[in-house]
Amino acid sequence: MSSKYDHNSDHKNDHKNLVQWYKKNQRALPWRISKDPYRIWLSEVMLQQTTVVAVIPYFEKFLEKFPTVEDLANAPESEVLEAWAGLGYYSRARNLHKAAKALATNGFPKTAAELLELPGFGPYTSRAVSSIAFGEKVGVLDGNVIRVLSRKYGLKLEWWNNKARNELQKISDDLAAFGQSDSLNQGLMELGATVCTPQKVMCMLCPWSADCVAREKNLIEKLPLKKPRKESEVWVWKPVVSIKDRKVALIKNDYAPFLKGQMIFPGEIALEQDKPKDYDAKHNITHHDIFIQITQKKSLAGRNIQWVELKELKKVNPSSLLQKVLAKVDV
Ligand code: ADE
Repeated sequence: MSSKYDHNSDHKNDHKNLVQWYKKNQRALPWRISKDPYRIWLSEVMLQQTTVVAVIPYFEKFLEKFPTVEDLANAPESEVLEAWAGLGYYSRARNLHKAAKALATNGFPKTAAELLELPGFGPYTSRAVSSIAFGEKVGVLDGNVIRVLSRKYGLKLEWWNNKARNELQKISDDLAAFGQSDSLNQGLMELGATVCTPQKVMCMLCPWSADCVAREKNLIEKLPLKKPRKESEVWVWKPVVSIKDRKVALIKNDYAPFLKGQMIFPGEIALEQDKPKDYDAKHNITHHDIFIQITQKKSLAGRNIQWVELKELKKVNPSSLLQKVLAKVDV
């Protein structure tokens, strides 16, 4: 299987066509109205969670609450988590908060290499922020970009492995090296989000369709290669819910493989072969299929129990899993 892309391909021309297309066709999005690195960073972190359409209201609400990186740095963590509630993956919000403290003190570094040192800044976010906010000539690589590049250059790469990823990163960097990396990178993202989509590809709108290898060789549906799926695991979780005087008993999670280290109901959990016949609710976190069997108790004792006001629960742990359990019990 060939993994080499056509080195004769004209990156300079590809760069020109994509930048031109992006400038003409970009969507008007709230993080594109300024070059404020804080807004650009926030949008990139939120966009790792969900789609553009879903992010917009969160983005605007979050900025109303924390208009500058200093406001975010000075806010209590519980307020940051509350503003994040609904987006999921709260570790991202915690890292955002931690990084804001560093940025408020030391200012915003302008290169991806320096940004990479900050909490929550991986290669993608670092490169997105440095190129979009500061014009650094580095390329981005995320799921959308992997799809666009794999198709354009006809690459049968196992992109989930480091070696192949580095190859793709190199192409993205080669393109960004021609300059206007803010438009180039957002052009790659935009093309992946609106034209070169996983299904229902709209090649007639694509600035790269004339010399797209996948299109020419009828490989659009085969590229990018599909990552072998990790089998879902079936977990049966038996939380014990005890509510007294509008307070609920929680412990720091030291027993379940999801929401590690966070406050959850005490209980037991087991990895099973098959899903149980009876359960009160079902929840999914990454590859964990969680079947929930609830026990309600009038009282609970134990050294590690913390009694948390029901109305504070969302701040202590905003996960919808806890809300789902509470919705099934008498409060
Ligand atoms: N997805 C990730 N980053 C994006 C951006 N800046 N614009 C649109 N979609 C994106």
